[in-house]
Amino acid sequence: MIARLSLFALLVTLAACRTGGDEAAPAASGEAAEQAPLPTDVHSYAKPEEARVTHVALDLDADFDLKELSGMATLTFEAAEGAEEIVLDVRDLTIEGVMDASGDSLAYEVGESDPLLGAPLTVQIPESGETITVRYRTSPEAAAVQWLRPEQTASGQPFLFTQGQAILTRTWVPTQDSPGIRQTYEAEITVPESLTAVMSAEGNGDDPVASGEGARTFGFELDKAVPPYLIALAIGDLEFREIGERTGVWAEPTVVESAASEFVDVDAMMDAAEELYGPYRWGRYDVLVLPASFPFGGMENPLLTFATPTILAGDRSLVSLVAHELAHSWSGNLVTNATWDDFWINEGFTSYFENRIMEEVSGPEYAQMLESLSRTGLDEEITGLDEADQHLRLNLVGRDPDDGMNAIAYDKGALFLRTMEEAAGREAFDAWLRGYFDRHAFQPMTTDRLLADLDANLFKGNPALRDEVNPEAWIDGPGLPANAPRVESAAFARAEAQAEAFASGTAPGELETEGWSTHEWLHFMQSLPGELKPVQLANLDEAFGFSDTGNSEIRFAWLKTAIANEYDPAVPSLELFLTSQGRRKFVLPLFRDLAASEWGKPIADRIYRAARPGYHFITSDSVDDVLGVNA
Ligand code: BES
Ligand code: ZN
Repeated sequence: MIARLSLFALLVTLAACRTGGDEAAPAASGEAAEQAPLPTDVHSYAKPEEARVTHVALDLDADFDLKELSGMATLTFEAAEGAEEIVLDVRDLTIEGVMDASGDSLAYEVGESDPLLGAPLTVQIPESGETITVRYRTSPEAAAVQWLRPEQTASGQPFLFTQGQAILTRTWVPTQDSPGIRQTYEAEITVPESLTAVMSAEGNGDDPVASGEGARTFGFELDKAVPPYLIALAIGDLEFREIGERTGVWAEPTVVESAASEFVDVDAMMDAAEELYGPYRWGRYDVLVLPASFPFGGMENPLLTFATPTILAGDRSLVSLVAHELAHSWSGNLVTNATWDDFWINEGFTSYFENRIMEEVSGPEYAQMLESLSRTGLDEEITGLDEADQHLRLNLVGRDPDDGMNAIAYDKGALFLRTMEEAAGREAFDAWLRGYFDRHAFQPMTTDRLLADLDANLFKGNPALRDEVNPEAWIDGPGLPANAPRVESAAFARAEAQAEAFASGTAPGELETEGWSTHEWLHFMQSLPGELKPVQLANLDEAFGFSDTGNSEIRFAWLKTAIANEYDPAVPSLELFLTSQGRRKFVLPLFRDLAASEWGKPIADRIYRAARPGYHFITSDSVDDVLGVNA
């Protein structure tokens, strides 16, 4: 035990010394708290205390006919003295061989496979040094990878994108797939010559080299260590448009102009974020707009946020999503949840930070509307969750980390930070948060380490402040603690008054809706009575064009209202919405609501038959569950 402990301490020190890269971190102010040991990640087979991957070098070929990535991953690792084996995570990969640096075969074994976690790949550590090369190919069903047919894209060309979070990177990269095991990476990606590859790394936009017949190879490198869920690749007919000096968008040719104009505020967001919590440490910040089947709103892949086209509303009204993904460049990508039990440390901090960016860029009234919408969503969701799932800190042993992806992590997490801000005062809280990012940059974070840092800094010498915040009630308690602040939005109070006026008979054309933003419309919709008559719905739709709106959030809110009232005339709009995009946040609740009634179930089944082939695995897997489809 003593030997193991000291070995562990050595590895913890090693990990702490390995900072992100060449950029000198600013001198961290504040106290370095005693570091609690890192917990075991129950979602990975890796044994980092024996051997830990530090660098991944990929050399992969993308075959769109076979739907297969094939080639090699060369892993550099650090091994404890006497360690004989290194354990990697793999899922649905065909392993063709493992070699040492001189190409000699190494003994390896793929263990028993679990549907969620995949299998351990155990490799004999070579005598020649601390690198191994795995030769492998992915499965066409690899959960992280979506291969899109030409008809599923705007350009009519094939497309591929990966989505690693939470534990899917192992379906396309054989590595230690745990967020606490940070790795630098480089890649050479060979693609058909009409297509362009981009990654969450440096090298996007660099000239490729011709390689073989009809193919070209793109090179990438990320010298800042990241958790493996942030390794990301996309291949398609992609073009780039600059926004500012260090910002821009990638998208298919017919989308790229509108994307560039939608995201013009990204420079102001970067400036605001840096002003608040310190320098952006990643170099460039670009956004990749994906085809509509992308299952999430956004994914904070470093240097290159992946985003759904459903935020291109045309009026910049849904760009807080970009603020969110940008904020992850600090909370999540710089300071990372050590395991998925602490997912709230990624998303709660980010949701708080997102709101602070929006306050700077669009003003306090705007930020209040966003916060109020989040609060309504949280209040609605919280009651449907088991008590233990209402805690910020989770215990996800035996469960899919996706189970933790709900309003608790995001909105209860953000509200906890807001509570601390209000108790400590904004100035003191901001100073603490900025210091926190500096003190823990490029390191894993746990709830215990966070508490230790709060005690050593924000709460230090001020037990009354700690009592007032009551962190334990937030972290390990159900629901919302009594000290949760309320958000007031004057704009929303006005929208509510209009919803009441409508409910009591005012014609839609007479309502005072001029100049409303997306958020006021959403709140108006939330404030309508639960039961509406067909004629009321028809009048609303006629006056405001909800069924035809290209604003995905308003369309979604309208369709939910329509389903709740079994309103047939909205079905064509619903069908078009469900077959033209695959964002799970929209798709899943609509199918769930349909499936709950005799009226809706046959509609759901019919639409799903047409829609399912276009969805990403992440979306179809969830919808299969609610519709009882046995895939
Ligand atoms: N990191 C998340 C997406 C994610 C979480 C993917 C967990 C897989 C597992 C991303 O930052 C996110 O939160 N996206 C949100 C949008 C955001 C504005 C709340 C989404 O996709 O809806
Ligand atoms: Zn997020």
